[in-house]
Amino acid sequence: MTSTSTLPGQAPPAAAASGTYTLTSRLARGGTFEDGEITTHLGAVRLGAITPGARAALHAFGEGDRDETAINALVVAHDGETGLLRWQMLRSRLEAAGLLEHAVTGPDGAPLARLVPVGRGATTLKPAPRGPVRLSRHALLSPAEGTLALRAPGSPLAVELGAGAAALLPLLTTWTEEVPAPLVRLLATAGALAPGGPGSDPQAEERGSVQWDPVDLAFHARTRVPASAPGYGGTYRHADRFGPEPVAAPAADGPRVTLPVPDLEAIAARDLTLTEAIEQRTSTRAHDPGSPLTLAQLAELLYRTVRIRGTFTGSDGQELADRPLPSGGAVHELEVYPLVTHCEGLEPGLYRYAPDRHELELVAAPGPATATLVKEARGGTMMEGDPQVVLLVAARFGRVMWKYETVAYPLILKHVGVLYQTVYLVATAMGLAVCGLGGGDTTAFAAATGRDPLLEGTVGELVLGSRPAEPTAEPSAESAAEPAAAGL
Ligand SMILES: Cc1cc2nc3c(=O)[nH]c(=O)nc-3n(C[C@H](O)[C@H](O)[C@H](O)COP(=O)(O)O)c2cc1C
Repeated sequence: MTSTSTLPGQAPPAAAASGTYTLTSRLARGGTFEDGEITTHLGAVRLGAITPGARAALHAFGEGDRDETAINALVVAHDGETGLLRWQMLRSRLEAAGLLEHAVTGPDGAPLARLVPVGRGATTLKPAPRGPVRLSRHALLSPAEGTLALRAPGSPLAVELGAGAAALLPLLTTWTEEVPAPLVRLLATAGALAPGGPGSDPQAEERGSVQWDPVDLAFHARTRVPASAPGYGGTYRHADRFGPEPVAAPAADGPRVTLPVPDLEAIAARDLTLTEAIEQRTSTRAHDPGSPLTLAQLAELLYRTVRIRGTFTGSDGQELADRPLPSGGAVHELEVYPLVTHCEGLEPGLYRYAPDRHELELVAAPGPATATLVKEARGGTMMEGDPQVVLLVAARFGRVMWKYETVAYPLILKHVGVLYQTVYLVATAMGLAVCGLGGGDTTAFAAATGRDPLLEGTVGELVLGSRPAEPTAEPSAESAAEPAAAGL
């Protein structure tokens, strides 16, 4: 492809006015056209009867970037002028289906930018907006396959930037007309430009736009707008490199505490009803130091909430578990680490609950890192004294990420919610004080446990203890919700 054309849209900036930009297209993501079938990252699409000109054009698009003039000439050469309209209609359908991608080459012949589908959606180019443009506050830049990719949350398209386009990005952090229209056109099509113009009052920005942090919005869109990212559901994208992790973490070598097994029949006979437990449930941020939580109570709570009742093998070969609480795909990645400061019958320290063996494994004796974790839980609940126990909830990420892709992390957070409510209800039924926390310190957990935070890290925490007989002047939900408490 060699022919060039000046692209429509706003007037190019003075610096670029003398040059021309070339807009080209090709089958998306290195797609191919063979035997009447287009194969791209989205799969294979069989075309019906098409003219020789369309066939030649698709072969050319499969070989590489072609500009419109060259492609149209090819169609005319085979089908005559009358074939052009049919071709344009087919081409529009291909763009609507996301089967074509577009690139812009600069006046110096260097690739400037490429608009590529990263999810499922149309690649039909939008016109470049008139007047100054600015990047959306939600646009995110990340390295991708040897280029920098600019994305807007929820858009199925990315703009891969060549060096020339990347150098223009600082201009686009404020309203500018200094960016070539062809590049602006790709950015507009990818949804990466801010609405409005330089006259727009920043204070008048829509609440919906302002309240979202770009990273949060990208995460939300990636997980809730399936068309914007491939990889919904179980994709096993790393299965050829790593095997699944065992459902129960291997036993550690250190000291273990065998836990008493509660008598579930006796418990069921004396327990609150489900309705009573739900109706009496409350967050309690005070513990009774005179009558602390006992080892038997801790054992019962763990047994009734997170023990492994059984294991089985999924159709994909991953070992799965049955526990009192549900888990997406039955993968059960959550581990509970009781951090004990005051529990009758149990030395202070950080333990891991082995849910398959109903045992506690000592992970760390009290030290600076465990002290940090206790202090943070106390600060987050504004408790007057140290919580008797902090239940640190960690995820063995690989359990979920071996199978799932875009839904992996959201699943983990949902599992934390499931665990919180199960612990709240069982603690209520047992007459214990419990309060969930909204944040925690993965770094201190890594320091205390020596665990690699990319393999296993905390994703939740609850404080647990004996409930004071008399209501105390414990912090109210409102005061604990003060930002100063870093609590919720
Ligand atoms: C996910 C979650 C996070 C929470 N984070 C905190 C926290 O960091 N600090 C705190 O004191 N309470 C925290 N709480 C407790 C809430 O403040 C409490 O549930 C809310 O005020 C309602 O009160 P209730 O639980 O007694 O009904 C949290 C609760 C949940 C479910």
